[in-house]
Amino acid sequence: MAEQKSYHMSPEDFRRHGREVIDWIADYHENVARYPVLSRARPGEIGDSLGDEVPEDGEDFTAILQDATERILPGMTHWQSPGFHAYFPSNASGPAILGELLSAGLGVQGMLWSTGPACTEVETRVLDMLADLLGLPEAYRSTGSGGGVIQDSASSAVLCALIAARERDSGLRTNRAGCDGTQVAYCSTQAHSSLEKAMGVAGLGRANLRQIAVNERFALDPARLAAQIKADRAGGLRPIFACATLGTTSSNAIDPIAAIGRICRDEGLWFHVDAAMSGTAAICPEHRHLHDGIEYSDSYCFNPHKWMFTNFDCSCFWVADRAALIGALSILPEYLMNEATRSGAVFDYRDWQVPLGRRFRALKLWFVLRYYGVEGLRHHIRRHIELARRLVGWIEADHHFEIVAPTPLNLVCFRHLGSDELNERIMNEINGGGKIFLTHTRLNGRFVLRLCVGQSHTEAEHVERAWELIVDAAQGIRERGM
Ligand SMILES: Cc1ncc(COP(=O)(O)O)c(C=O)c1O
Repeated sequence: MAEQKSYHMSPEDFRRHGREVIDWIADYHENVARYPVLSRARPGEIGDSLGDEVPEDGEDFTAILQDATERILPGMTHWQSPGFHAYFPSNASGPAILGELLSAGLGVQGMLWSTGPACTEVETRVLDMLADLLGLPEAYRSTGSGGGVIQDSASSAVLCALIAARERDSGLRTNRAGCDGTQVAYCSTQAHSSLEKAMGVAGLGRANLRQIAVNERFALDPARLAAQIKADRAGGLRPIFACATLGTTSSNAIDPIAAIGRICRDEGLWFHVDAAMSGTAAICPEHRHLHDGIEYSDSYCFNPHKWMFTNFDCSCFWVADRAALIGALSILPEYLMNEATRSGAVFDYRDWQVPLGRRFRALKLWFVLRYYGVEGLRHHIRRHIELARRLVGWIEADHHFEIVAPTPLNLVCFRHLGSDELNERIMNEINGGGKIFLTHTRLNGRFVLRLCVGQSHTEAEHVERAWELIVDAAQGIRERGM
């Protein structure tokens, strides 16, 4: 019988092409600063360049990789560029990428302890170690009443926290029968939109999210929170959940965790802390005060995929009472039943998240923690914060510009004196130049420029250049008469 073609990539070819891909990534990272940070692709351009049929015969891998270079790269916005100052960062690093590769190579699906004992146990241990590093309360350890789990995103984390709160409040009745529209939740007007989305997804209703006014520092006002809870109770509603943000997306405002936490404790609300980007700073002892009051929280989330050199996706989520989370999310069909689960001696992480399946995300995080070590992480966090402060100094010294929000860490919010249109024009001109990319927000109704320093390889020279570009763009526009 003639030998059948396998169609698979042989181990020899995998080795060869694997080396090509590693070289490709290394070259990309070495040269990424040369590309326009914000992609110049027009809508549809990249899709149209790909053709629209799957090839009948498989293609040579080298040709495929070549196409990635020629057709995909031009459609990239380069998040790993040191000139990336937009949104919040989504930074990466060598050890994280290699950990990701190893995870893909192992191809494990860690939905249950039994389907991936190492996948589960590395995750539990890494999150316990991280809880120590961040100074999180004892209850968050797997050795206590709680524990940590890696979610795909902070959005999923807050959804899980909300569902746990919903079920804790209803004694699991809403899981069976659905919501009755009386459960309400609280955050500030500056909280991330993922909470509003989660209210809808969890069936609680977006209209049942109370967005509490903020003070002049854009942080939640606890007195207004307390008053709103009281008013809602008087109106026959059931306050169940509050979210404080440690580093809001718009301006990096820090909500008063302790004051909000005490209200939640007294009122019996589930208290979630969303520290998506800024939680990373608590690794440094001088920023640990950010966590003052964290002992009142029921859940906490921060994203190593934002500002801790671990490529997307990797969002760490802790609960103080794992029984509340597992009780809300667990459902066990016969085909997943196994001895280890029955024994009650293991974590089955499928019960800690919305999807069933899950990959070995902890591997890249473990690589990052071990490779950088505590000192390496602190070095970069401190550097980013210091560079942001330098920028604040330059802005304050320039009479054309003003700082419009406090800069507790690495996000600088500022504007050119004058109209919103002028500021938008400055931003568009800078971004069109391709050397850096920054984005905007609106604070107190005004258009505000945001510059975040958090990309893995952003150094002093890049922030200096960014400021020069901003000053030059503004001066050019002024001279042209706007
Ligand atoms: C404060 C805050 N919370 C939540 C999120 C959502 O993050 P993710 O993309 O991980 O869902 C963000 C994203 O920027 C954020 O800044």
